[in-house]
Amino acid sequence: MSQKTVVVIGAGYVGLPVACSFAGAGLRTYALEIIPERVRIINEGRSPIVGDEPGLEELLSRTVRAGTLSATTDASVIGKADFAVVCVDTPVDMDTKEPRMDILEGAVRSIGQNIKPGALVSIESTLPPLTMKNMVIPIIEKESGLTAGKDFLVTHCPERVMPGRLLSNLANYDRVLGGLDERSIKLGIELYSHIVHADLHPTDLLSAEMAKTLENAYRDVQIAFANEVALACEELGADAFEVRKLVNTCPFRDMHIPGAGVGGHCLPKDSWLFASSLKTVKPKIMTTAREVNEYMPNHMVELVEKGLEGAGVELASAKVAIMGLAFLRDSDDTRNSPALTIIDRLIGEVKELIVHDPMVEKVYKAPMVREIGEALTGADCMVIVTDHSDYHSIDLESIKHLMRTPLIIDGRNVLNGNDVRTKGFGYLGIGKGK
Ligand SMILES: NC(=O)c1ccc[n+]([C@@H]2O[C@H](COP(=O)([O-])OP(=O)(O)OC[C@H]3O[C@@H](n4cnc5c(N)ncnc54)[C@H](O)[C@@H]3O)[C@@H](O)[C@H]2O)c1
Repeated sequence: MSQKTVVVIGAGYVGLPVACSFAGAGLRTYALEIIPERVRIINEGRSPIVGDEPGLEELLSRTVRAGTLSATTDASVIGKADFAVVCVDTPVDMDTKEPRMDILEGAVRSIGQNIKPGALVSIESTLPPLTMKNMVIPIIEKESGLTAGKDFLVTHCPERVMPGRLLSNLANYDRVLGGLDERSIKLGIELYSHIVHADLHPTDLLSAEMAKTLENAYRDVQIAFANEVALACEELGADAFEVRKLVNTCPFRDMHIPGAGVGGHCLPKDSWLFASSLKTVKPKIMTTAREVNEYMPNHMVELVEKGLEGAGVELASAKVAIMGLAFLRDSDDTRNSPALTIIDRLIGEVKELIVHDPMVEKVYKAPMVREIGEALTGADCMVIVTDHSDYHSIDLESIKHLMRTPLIIDGRNVLNGNDVRTKGFGYLGIGKGK
């Protein structure tokens, strides 16, 4: 098995740690990626992912130096591979809520055009149910002239990683492994046993597709419940975090944490991926949950407006500092981040908008700074959108002197409202009715 070759197609948040893990386990691994800049950075032994990712850059540089990992834009490497593992993005058009399947189609087509007979194709990308049967297998068969189950084997082994813990999630979380047939499952287990040190749960392809989209839809629904409670607490004058703690003292309750919105590549879209495969059943709970969660960044804007009005500052003359562009603590991932909606809503409405993020390099519509002090100098409102570690240790006394108006809108329960108010700040937050 140590002589075997793997090609991982797509070297993003999922594919890069997957490729590094296979290479670290001693398999000859190619990371096939369409972005030449990513390929260059990887081949220099550096990680193109900027956020805090324990162990990733070390493993990457070690495996590149050892010659077990290399990146390329040349799809012909698929022809050398015993295993083709697909980790490309499967986004949803956020206006129409329709899946964009063209990226996956492109990756699968290049497998069909280059596949070595006998290889195992494993799709890790999240899929609308029935995609393996209706799209992936037919495209590979058509392009290659081979027959699935006879000339090549097929698994769907969806990912469960979160940015910030990519390598450890990959190694330590159980995985569902759907297979076309017994041989596919057997070979899939052999492959993933190299990198997954938890249980692999074998099943059929459709059940694996459903389990992945539904585990994320389930979480999205739970977060929406917490967000609805938070809005109710604001109206009734309660603290949602205290209420949550009390609810969860009841056995079998696990109320989630409310917040400024749900971001990332996965949760905002996976309910839509699931729903897109249905013709008759129209899911109501999942789609309503999406509505609630999509409203939260808009509610943050309402809190900014309310806070400024309470402080006697005109919106049109205010300087507002957005703290955090990433969707997740200490990550550089900004995909579907609630901060983007908040910026879209406030830009042009306030006099000056400035964004602070300690991890993100890209700029979105407003100037971006790295120093907290620089963002807050002369500001009328500090809007905490991301739960970055840096914000937990913020020195309230010193920022009070920097800000023109001491007002904080807390979207992530980062600060203690009573402390903040005692120190002379105006303070509003998600779920903070008192
Ligand atoms: N990000 C997460 O935390 C996470 C967690 C679980 C599951 N997933 C799922 O995993 C999949 C990948 O997500 P991601 O976050 O890694 O996406 P990503 O956008 O970070 O990475 C995808 C990469 O694939 C590359 N690519 C696209 N088409 C290609 C092709 N034909 N050949 C080679 N490379 C190609 C892109 O350039 C990109 O670098 C998605 O289906 C996602 O839903 C993601």
